[in-house]
Amino acid sequence: MDGPRAPLDAEFPTVVEFLDRNLRPQAGWSIRDEYPVALGRQNIGNIRIIKDDDRVLSHAVMRPLIVKSPVGLFKVAGIGSVVTSSGHRNRGLSRTIIENCLQAAREHGCDFAILWTDLHDFYRKMGFELAGSETSVVLEEEIDVPADGLKILETSKVAADPIHRLYARHTVTSLRTLDETRQYLRIPNMRVYTAWDAAGALQAYAIEGKGSDLDGYVHEWGGEVPALLALIAHVRRAQKRPITVIVPAHSQNLLRRLKAHPVVVNEGFLGMVKILNHANLYAKIKRHARSVGVGGFALERQGDLTYIGAGAGIFKTDADADVIRLVFGPHKASQIHGFDPKTSEALEAVLPVPMWIWGWDSV
Ligand SMILES: CC(C)(COP(=O)(O)OP(=O)(O)OC[C@H]1O[C@@H](n2cnc3c(N)ncnc32)[C@H](O)[C@@H]1OP(=O)(O)O)[C@@H](O)C(=O)NCCC(=O)NCCS
Repeated sequence: MDGPRAPLDAEFPTVVEFLDRNLRPQAGWSIRDEYPVALGRQNIGNIRIIKDDDRVLSHAVMRPLIVKSPVGLFKVAGIGSVVTSSGHRNRGLSRTIIENCLQAAREHGCDFAILWTDLHDFYRKMGFELAGSETSVVLEEEIDVPADGLKILETSKVAADPIHRLYARHTVTSLRTLDETRQYLRIPNMRVYTAWDAAGALQAYAIEGKGSDLDGYVHEWGGEVPALLALIAHVRRAQKRPITVIVPAHSQNLLRRLKAHPVVVNEGFLGMVKILNHANLYAKIKRHARSVGVGGFALERQGDLTYIGAGAGIFKTDADADVIRLVFGPHKASQIHGFDPKTSEALEAVLPVPMWIWGWDSV
């Protein structure tokens, strides 16, 4: 058995071929086109494979992201394309490879890891927990929002710069380069909608679909709410099928405006999260607590125990899953423990940390 290790440059085509065969057997494109950054050659050092007799048996990729939020900068490890060839499953290969990816993420200084999966129990065994908040707004019917004065285009052949500029205005973003935005615009099987004003300035964008994933989901969007709302209404009209817009819990204005229409709202999790560097993460949150004037805020890990509280109301727990859900949501302090109202209020002024990973960055 050879690995887990990063592939050599010369092995890269074989790795992509392994992924295409196992994860995209029917697609008319390569998985590499769907994840141009995570599965790009520049990220090869964060890919992990296990080989035997020169054949790839198992794979996972880690993609470090820097996420800017009102609480500060977080270093996040996105994990994805986890797969073991069918004849070699249940021998611990994926577990070994994921542990190795997590180790690489710790060495990169990542605060936490995140992934998207239906195999919750598989990842719970490795310390991941469903956490964070994601609101899905389903437009079963058309919504009546006119696109007054806006010219709407449906094409991915648009300039990356204005999209990049609108993206940068979000409260929570990953630090993306303009070139990464250009690469994302070339992802196959994706509908790109843009709304332009009479002066030719981009007012809103909305992206539906992404390769084999997120069909019918608007997973990336940006712009001022009125133009964005008109664009979303256009997407629903143009596609003549239900469309779901995924929205972070902190996008209160957009959520309020969408909910004014006959839509179905589902509350979900952002993803499965595992804290990698407790001390770093907690230091950032405590710094934020001080900056918003919450005194005596405690968030400390000692051994397997976490101490959480404010002032005299300190609670101690060995359940990391509870801590993950308190730090990133959706739990509120009062749901985890019977804190007195003053402590709950102090905790809820700081937690959950607003966190979001936009669709193009998901791994
Ligand atoms: C899911 C998958 C990656 C697991 O790979 P693997 O090499 O067989 O996994 P491991 O042998 O390391 O299993 C680790 C643990 O998870 C358990 N497990 C494996 N597959 C599981 C599943 N589908 N659901 C729940 N638990 C699972 C194993 O029993 C093992 O538990 P243990 O350590 O307590 O014995 C593999 O089945 C696969 O490639 N599936 C198709 C692609 C896929 O679905 N990828 C997941 C993308 S998120």
